Amino acid sequence: MGLPVASVQQALLEWYRKNRRDLPWRRTDDPYRIWLSEVMLQQTRVDTAISYYERFIERFPTLHDLAAADLDEVLALWAGLGYYNRARNLHAAVREVAAAYSGRVPAEPEAFGALPGVGPYTTAAVLSIAYGKPLPAVDGNVQRVLARLCGVSEPVDRASGRRAVQDAAAALVPDDAPGDWNQALMELGALVCRPASPNCSACPLRAWCRAAEDGTADVLPVVQGRTAVRPVERLVAGIVADNALLFVQRPSEGLLAGMWELPALEAAPGTWPSPLARERALRGLLHELGVRVQGTLRFCGRTEHRFSHVEWRMWVYRCDAQGPPPAGLRAVALDRVLALPTATGIKKTLRLAVQQMG
Ligand code: ADE
Ligand code: SF4
Repeated sequence: MGLPVASVQQALLEWYRKNRRDLPWRRTDDPYRIWLSEVMLQQTRVDTAISYYERFIERFPTLHDLAAADLDEVLALWAGLGYYNRARNLHAAVREVAAAYSGRVPAEPEAFGALPGVGPYTTAAVLSIAYGKPLPAVDGNVQRVLARLCGVSEPVDRASGRRAVQDAAAALVPDDAPGDWNQALMELGALVCRPASPNCSACPLRAWCRAAEDGTADVLPVVQGRTAVRPVERLVAGIVADNALLFVQRPSEGLLAGMWELPALEAAPGTWPSPLARERALRGLLHELGVRVQGTLRFCGRTEHRFSHVEWRMWVYRCDAQGPPPAGLRAVALDRVLALPTATGIKKTLRLAVQQMG
């Protein structure tokens, strides 16, 4: 990072102390209230959140009041805010804090972050604001400000761009006023470094801003969006021989390169429209593999897995085979199959195949 960190921190903190909006959750140092505000603000605009926050605090002034409440009443007060799982999780989490921590919101990121509904953003926001923990809180506003400030040109909704923003956030968060700092970045994003037409001439970070310098403020951050996902159907064969499942290795390039999986056929949706068509296709595959099938093919179930560009729609079958595994196939003892370290998409088929073994 080429930024003069101390100067940047000082300039933004100074701006924030002069320009911050007087919001109800900024008048408290009660971790419970700060937590509530952060949960409400996650998918809700500040203007909307204010009245809900005030009604909530009036009815549940302390964490214990919320913990003692019925979920129905909590949901009724939440009505209109949407994303009701936020309320359900908060209620469950607050009960956990009441029971396990005598009502004191834990200050350790591991403990707080393990509560229902509490992810990395909420952890950083609440613990920095309420307890002064120097954790970088990156929400949408902060992401936009930092992508512009540091000239991050990779898409921020992909791993590399997200990492660049996260690294910048971690490098900038000060040890002494991390809560003010995180809120200052959010505030700058809301008031100055807005999504459309950022007001660079009024910005305290203008002197160090890559995007303002390059004239790229209106194209950053780059958001790639959801790429088209191609559905493919996969017929998966759980072949059992001598109390073991037979695996094949995927090609050394491409998706899940080199990983071991159950033998499978792959084709466009609709290629195998009936159970009979699927069974025929599978028997063809087994024959090609050199597997001698004994008895019937049994259908174990369906599962799906989505990658970034492909979605696997799987039909999992199982059969018994005679003789030693043909060349290229590897036998894994049934009781070890579910302990294999493998990709989730493969694991889902293994569970189905093994589940039916009993
Ligand atoms: N958005 C998320 N947290 C916020 C906060 N503490 N103040 C203003 N906007 C926010
Ligand atoms: Fe955003 Fe402009 Fe400030 Fe850069 S100078 S942080 S683009 S408002």
